[in-house]
Parts: sequence; structure tokens; C-alpha cells
Amino acid sequence: MTDRPLVFAANWKMNHGPSEARAFARKFLPLTTPVQGRRLWFFPPAVSIEALAQSLHQRPDIAVGAQNVHWELKGAFTGGISIPMVTEVGARLTLVGHSERRHLFGETDEQVARKTRAALKAGIMPLVCVGETLAERDGGRTEQVIVRQLGSVIQALETEDWEHVALAYEPVWAIGTGKNATPDDAAQIHELIRMELGRHGVTKRVPILYGGSVNAGNVASLLTRPQLDGVLVGGASLDPDKWAELVEQGSRAKVRPSGGYGMVE
Ligand code: PGA
Repeated sequence: MTDRPLVFAANWKMNHGPSEARAFARKFLPLTTPVQGRRLWFFPPAVSIEALAQSLHQRPDIAVGAQNVHWELKGAFTGGISIPMVTEVGARLTLVGHSERRHLFGETDEQVARKTRAALKAGIMPLVCVGETLAERDGGRTEQVIVRQLGSVIQALETEDWEHVALAYEPVWAIGTGKNATPDDAAQIHELIRMELGRHGVTKRVPILYGGSVNAGNVASLLTRPQLDGVLVGGASLDPDKWAELVEQGSRAKVRPSGGYGMVE
């Protein structure tokens, strides 16, 4: 048995400025209560981190993170945001290597590894995303791509760093498309990731989330798979009622024999 939290992560992408973030928090807070072993993570746009972190600060089960950071601490990087800056306004986590960063902004495996290392060094948790494109899947290269993306991060970290890392498997073809991997497909890749980590002596405590068109209707069937420790959600996390409903549906699907969420096989 290994301790892993059940995680519901909301990636707001380029939605919800500070006043919308505050309004979201006001509506969302009464809809959920803290549950042992369950974590709710929010990744708002950088300008909304402070507003959201302040609005949600009374909830120990909730943490706010950045969607992207630079690996350098400061300097001539126009448009860049450093980890100390996001930490100062309340971020305790950061997404790293989201597929939109990789594919729309040309982020490389090497940059993903540098950002992951920088986040750990600065004391915030990286949620590192991996996932194949449709062409890679159709070409039978899914496993190869996942192992390569994971490999650059594994190489860059010490084994003990992994105590503070979370991963997300997000097939690129499933993001924002309404198509999602079947629970079997997702479970299979999660197993591959867990095996890869194991081969390198990484702790089983690393949570692995699934992302890509997750909504209140499909979250339960995904989370009944023991390989999935949570979900990373874009579109369906923008509305407080729908997000609370998704969290509720997903949590019900994941009740462990122990009665809590913290303990999984
Ligand atoms: P989606 O996005 O839920 O809108 O598909 C997921 C993500 O990109 O993290």
C-alpha cells in the first residue's frame, strides 16, 4: 500500500482574470468541504494567482499554482515570470510542459526538465505533463514518446526529488477536443509511466493524473481505474457549479476500501 492523494486539478488556461477568479471562489467554496486525502489544485492565469490564493486561503485542501514559469530566477526574459514571483503571490505549484506549451510555444523536453528542476529547487511542486499527439499515436509511437518525455525529467532529478513531483498524462488529441482516452487506454499508459518510474527507483507516492476532455459525465469511469490518481481538467473546470459536480462525481468513484482516498494499492 502506498500513500497517494486523490487530486482534482483545474487548468484555467487563458480564462478568468482576478475579479472572475474571486467570483469563482465565492461560489465554489460552499459547494465542497475538505476531505482527507483529497487535494484541489487550481492553475489560473498568472495575474489571477494572488486573487485566487487569497480567496481560497482558508482551505487547507486547496492549493493554487502557476501555468508556466521560467527556469531562471530573474533577468532579460521579456514576458517571462519567475518562480519567486509566483511564489510571492501565493503559488505553491506550477504546471510544467503542458502540451499547449510544448506544441503552441515550442517548449522542448530539455526546457521542461530545467523548469521542473528549478521549481523543486525553489520549493514549489511541479505538475509535469506528458502525452502523445494523434500522429504519434496513429504511428504506434505512444510509448516511445512518453518514455522520452519522462526520461528527460528523470535524468534531471535526483531520486529523492520525486517526493515533491506530480505527473499528468494528457494525450494531445484528447485536449479540448471532446474526445477522451478510454479508461483502459488511460490506465495502460499510467501503468507504463509507473513502470518507468519504478525502473529508476522513483517513489510510488508520485500521483499520476489523467487529462483531456474530462467532465462530470466521464470522470467516474476514469477514476474507478486504480492507476489514475486524479484528473487535470481544462474546459470543465471553468464553471464553479460544474467543477464542484465533477469533484463530487470523481470522489465518489474513488472511495477506497479503507474508506478514505489516501491509501491505494
Ligand atoms: P480539457 O483540457 O479538459 O479542456 O481537454 C485539459 C488540459 O489541457 O489540461
